[in-house]
Amino acid sequence: MSVTHSDAPEAPTSGPPKAGTPATEVADGAVTGGGVTGGAGVPHEVGRVDDVPPGEGRAFVAGDVQVAVFRLRDGSLHATQAACPHSGGPLADGQTDASVLVCPLHLYAFRWSDGACTGAAPPVRLFPVAERDGALVVTV
Ligand code: FES
Repeated sequence: MSVTHSDAPEAPTSGPPKAGTPATEVADGAVTGGGVTGGAGVPHEVGRVDDVPPGEGRAFVAGDVQVAVFRLRDGSLHATQAACPHSGGPLADGQTDASVLVCPLHLYAFRWSDGACTGAAPPVRLFPVAERDGALVVTV
């Protein structure tokens, strides 16, 4: 094993995402929550909404920041840092539902509402994301 973090858990506690916890709504490009970058960032057009299939995520670069953008099946958009805060897993390849994003590497789950991990990993950083005339705009 290559996990060297002293706070690494014995086993991820995520399991399959659970429905029922409402995700924070994306309204006019703003996302609220403790893990979300504030409104002082710079908006960057990173691609087209159609670049991200419903229910999936894709990696982009916003300015000089690598981000992962997700389009949920309800049409809402979410953006996170591209690398998992636990051990650098590719979050754009994670599984998601309306409540959480699950990292594909060790299956930790991160809440869309505030970026907090449901296990022992540090929180993920969230970024405001919006659609403007079909373009994906991420503020970092
Ligand atoms: S890298 Fe370990 S859960 Fe993401």
